[in-house]
Amino acid sequence: MEFIVKSGTPEKQRSGCIVVGVFESRKLSAVAHQIDEVSGGAIGAIVRRGDLDGKPGQTLLLHNIPNLPSERVLLVGCGKEKEFTDSRYRDATAKAVTALKDTGATEITSYLTELDVKGRDIFWKVRQAVEVSESALYRFDKLKTKSNNNRRALRRVVLAVPKRSDLGPGEQAINEGRAIAEGVRLARDLGNLPGNLCTPTYLAEQAVEIGKLYGLKTTVLEKADMQQLGMGALLSVSRGSRQPPKLIVLEYQGGKAGEAPVVLVGKGLTFDAGGISIKPAANMDEMKFDMCGGASVLGAVKAAAELKLPINIVGIIPSSENLPDGDANKPGDIVTSMSGQTVEVLNTDAEGRLILCDALTYAERYKPAFVIDIATLTGACVIALGAHASGLLANHDPLAREIGNAGKYTYDRIWQMPLWDEYQKQLDSNFADMANVGGREAGTITGACFLSRYAKNFKWAHLDIAGTAWKTGKEKGATGRPVPLLVQFLINRARKDGADMDT
Ligand code: BES
Ligand code: MN
Ligand code: ZN
Repeated sequence: MEFIVKSGTPEKQRSGCIVVGVFESRKLSAVAHQIDEVSGGAIGAIVRRGDLDGKPGQTLLLHNIPNLPSERVLLVGCGKEKEFTDSRYRDATAKAVTALKDTGATEITSYLTELDVKGRDIFWKVRQAVEVSESALYRFDKLKTKSNNNRRALRRVVLAVPKRSDLGPGEQAINEGRAIAEGVRLARDLGNLPGNLCTPTYLAEQAVEIGKLYGLKTTVLEKADMQQLGMGALLSVSRGSRQPPKLIVLEYQGGKAGEAPVVLVGKGLTFDAGGISIKPAANMDEMKFDMCGGASVLGAVKAAAELKLPINIVGIIPSSENLPDGDANKPGDIVTSMSGQTVEVLNTDAEGRLILCDALTYAERYKPAFVIDIATLTGACVIALGAHASGLLANHDPLAREIGNAGKYTYDRIWQMPLWDEYQKQLDSNFADMANVGGREAGTITGACFLSRYAKNFKWAHLDIAGTAWKTGKEKGATGRPVPLLVQFLINRARKDGADMDT
């Protein structure tokens, strides 16, 4: 999709469709009012007839509006004007492009960007419009043999800005929005790809491709390398699989040589059957999404490289399958992690922390400014927060705050949970330094507690994306979250050099 910004009045636009907002009840937005005037009251008359009263989610496509050079006008319900929030703006934008994607319009001009969203400037509105539109038009149909894409498709979205001086920021916003949207698309594609195609080897190949494209240093550690490093926890998970494990490392150097990098560590379980502690059959297919943390790292690094952010970033993706097998981990097995700490594997389905703990230890060698790990770690997080917020746990509050701010700005939100010491004892083991599970209570927190034992030597945050990385049900599919949050975090850090986070 092509996006451009333009300033100019709607009655002069020669476009396939002009998109304007209508508030509840039947209150025309400023631009809708403007075209109503030139058309001799045509818009107002249609709205008064009762076809659209402005409720969120409503759209009405109009043809042949008098005195307008544009072929169509799309009215979009925006809800109450006073309640036009971030999410209403995003929903209205998504609704508009989905309503128009199958019409004959190949180019549309949206004036939704001129609506007031509390606390948001034109930059935010344009960038969100790009991200939301790309996301709404996303399809994953490359594995369907019959394409149902026979219409003339929407090719170009013109985003209206009120003033000429908004054009510069608008173009900048399109740039950022496109890079983020591409990162999100990559994460979604990899997530949606099934486990038989998206294996650890495939993930590693994709990383190498991205590396070539952007001139990144890419290293893939093989099983033998892991053995040499003593990554007994990671290796124990992969023993149950015929697919060789990979530890994928991408290094982006946009900052000064030697400047401490941000390290992103993403769980890359390309299929999680649970191992010997096998999962129930229902919805087990969704465990192909258990590599979404890793995919979000690839998406974020790609976007950062595309934007040429002036910081250093390292992406680390431990990748494996978790399957039952004669050689798989058994409940009660004790493994030695790279850190030297021993772990009693009481439940083989708590495998994410086993592959992540060795990746976190490996991260130490980069002397990171911060480490953020991203993982579909616990079903408990889905119970606690549902699909709207990712869980956040951290050993450094300024870092947690920065991540929270990035989440708010991008509407890719988090909710912080406590990492209090009291929870640590749930991991006590009779036979090893720790157990890999902490019982039914506070499952997301004890998962993070486990990881925290491998994050003692740096400032660290953990994002549990079990509820946010993919949608279940009729719209099943990867969301690409938290790529927007991660990229925003990196952008913010590049802007202020993370100064206030170093305290
Ligand atoms: N990948 C799962 C977590 C998960 C489950 C994410 C359902 C989304 C939906 C993870 O590896 C896992 O199985 N976790 C266990 C941990 C438990 C054994 C302590 C869980 O959540 O049940
Ligand atoms: Mn599991
Ligand atoms: Zn898992």
